[in-house]
Amino acid sequence: MSGHARVLVTGGTGTTGSRVAALLRDRDTSVRIATRKPVDGEGDQARFDWGDPATHGPVVAEVERMYLVAPVGIPDPAPVVEPFLAGALRAGVSRVVLLSSSAINEGPSGLGALHRLVRTTVPEWTVLRPSWFMQNFIGEHPVATGIRTSAEIITATGQGRVAFVDAADIAAVAARALLDAVPHNTDHLITGPEALSYDDAAAIISAAIGVTVRHRAVSTADLAAQFVAAGMPAQFAAVLANLDEGIEHGAEDRVTSTVASVTGCRARSFAEFVATHRDSFIA
Ligand SMILES: NC(=O)c1ccc[n+]([C@@H]2O[C@H](COP(=O)([O-])OP(=O)(O)OC[C@H]3O[C@@H](n4cnc5c(N)ncnc54)[C@H](OP(=O)(O)O)[C@@H]3O)[C@@H](O)[C@H]2O)c1
Repeated sequence: MSGHARVLVTGGTGTTGSRVAALLRDRDTSVRIATRKPVDGEGDQARFDWGDPATHGPVVAEVERMYLVAPVGIPDPAPVVEPFLAGALRAGVSRVVLLSSSAINEGPSGLGALHRLVRTTVPEWTVLRPSWFMQNFIGEHPVATGIRTSAEIITATGQGRVAFVDAADIAAVAARALLDAVPHNTDHLITGPEALSYDDAAAIISAAIGVTVRHRAVSTADLAAQFVAAGMPAQFAAVLANLDEGIEHGAEDRVTSTVASVTGCRARSFAEFVATHRDSFIA
């Protein structure tokens, strides 16, 4: 890219976006971080709110490439994302890397509709379809708070397995998709190096921190009810709980070599992740 090229990172304060922005800066790329709450004095941050169209035009000015994180928690984001993306393309954005999910295929609605939108309207595009993030086990995700507060992980996944992936590895793939001279123009299904059940994950964490963490398998309906009780909108709670049911039936029991093939570095294992973040599992 030219010296004036700039990459807009939406969701740039989030789990993947913050890591994407850091990697781009390491590669001497000009980055603009889109956030609802820009910090005074942080010149690379710009105010952006999916709910405020007045922020959509200014944030893409002089931007050539974009990491796109759709509005989180909205079942059908296309009506919001489509006009924003059209404006970005008119403003000169020519490459978009969309964050989606391994659980989502291209389709007529939901996040899947954005796959088609990006593939058919953006000259240079990539759709990232990562598996479940290892970071769900630390921070404020319900899995993480369950570990810290009651040494328990509650899911509706039964003995189903997931190839958890480190957000740092997702960001490394994203950075290559944004910066490589040749656009990827494809989907990337991104996983960690091994598929684990939550029983397996609990055992790995227990061994690392010296406290027994247990996995309690509940029904899909019970999990959705717990999410609602914790303040989640009912429709979104049902979607998340149903994803667990998919895992129980094997939907995420697969491993890909995408991280290694795109970045040249092997994907980090769950045991390595846990060892690095050992303190984050303890209240
Ligand atoms: N967790 C998983 O296991 C998993 C697996 C596969 C795919 N995913 C996908 O990952 C996506 C989330 O990405 P992430 O984990 O990188 O982000 P995240 O950590 O959930 O952070 C959300 C980001 O969105 C921004 N944001 C929230 N509301 C906004 C609004 N109204 N306008 C503009 N920006 C807003 C936040 O920025 P500010 O607060 O600074 O405004 C923040 O940077 C989800 O869509 C999910 O489908 C997650």
